[in-house]
Amino acid sequence: MDLICARVASNDVIMPGTHVLALESAALGRAAAPGQFVHIRAGITWDPLLRRPMSIYQIRPQGVSVMVRAIGEGSTMIAASRPGDTLDVLGPLGRPFSVDPAARRLLMVGGGYGVAPLVALAERVLPRGCEVVLLVGAATAELVFPTGLVPPEVEYQAATMDGSLGHHGFVTELVPAYIAWADAVYACGPTPMLEAVARVSRPAAAGRAGAVDFPKPVQLAMEQHMGCAMGVCLGCVVKTRHGYQRVCRDGPVFDAGELVWEPTR
Ligand SMILES: Cc1cc2nc3c(=O)[nH]c(=O)nc-3n(C[C@H](O)[C@H](O)[C@H](O)COP(=O)(O)OP(=O)(O)OC[C@H]3O[C@@H](n4cnc5c(N)ncnc54)[C@H](O)[C@@H]3O)c2cc1C
Ligand code: FES
Repeated sequence: MDLICARVASNDVIMPGTHVLALESAALGRAAAPGQFVHIRAGITWDPLLRRPMSIYQIRPQGVSVMVRAIGEGSTMIAASRPGDTLDVLGPLGRPFSVDPAARRLLMVGGGYGVAPLVALAERVLPRGCEVVLLVGAATAELVFPTGLVPPEVEYQAATMDGSLGHHGFVTELVPAYIAWADAVYACGPTPMLEAVARVSRPAAAGRAGAVDFPKPVQLAMEQHMGCAMGVCLGCVVKTRHGYQRVCRDGPVFDAGELVWEPTR
């Protein structure tokens, strides 16, 4: 992990309010792995104080890209970066996805900007001859990750909450049809979606009561609010079989069987 002044090589709007920023840094391009993130300072003052974590979306020899959805103060500032600007970036951070060399059929489930690390993972495994199915959920058609940006070898299915594109409903409702086919499952998105992926990947046993063993690998990349992203402030912990663990250092990728889902109030 390094503190890097990364030049913004390009800033492309790929969906309403969603930008792909290519960050020039050969060090990041060399070290980054799918599932990891970078911690980006928003602006040049202390307001906002905290950096914002962004998943690594593309890994290239010259650097990495991130997909930023402008939803609040920090993300809007980062998304406004122009080509030629420099961003203060800490990374790559966190535990990446792991893929068993024997796994050939990978099911990936993304919610919102959670698709970003899954595209990085697909790009990493396709040259190994893996088959990939990518299921993506969004509120409406205009927020569905563009088909043209998905590697052509990937089978891609969308679900929208308003039914304006693909399956009408939750993306997790598409998962059961692929579970028997998949050697491993990977997911990234809001916590309720990840909990649902865990539940439908092992319907009989994955309940709220505690963690369970999964018959096949299910890896979940958590999007917890973060402070330091260096394992110090404990602002990002989640409950696991081994006690509370830090999403920034022990994750963001966890095996589904490690996590303990607590009832929402
Ligand atoms: C490991 C990790 C990877 C991430 N990857 C990406 C990515 O690839 N692209 C991307 O656009 N964002 C990503 N995020 C989310 C991002 O870091 C910010 O949390 C998000 O952009 C909101 O920050 P903000 O300053 O714009 O909004 P704020 O002004 O801080 O908040 C705006 C609203 O969003 C809510 N909010 C803020 N953060 C989150 C969160 N993490 N989850 C749910 N609600 C939240 C706030 O409660 C508030 O209601 C990731 C987060 C984590 C932890
Ligand atoms: S964000 Fe500080 S310990 Fe994880």
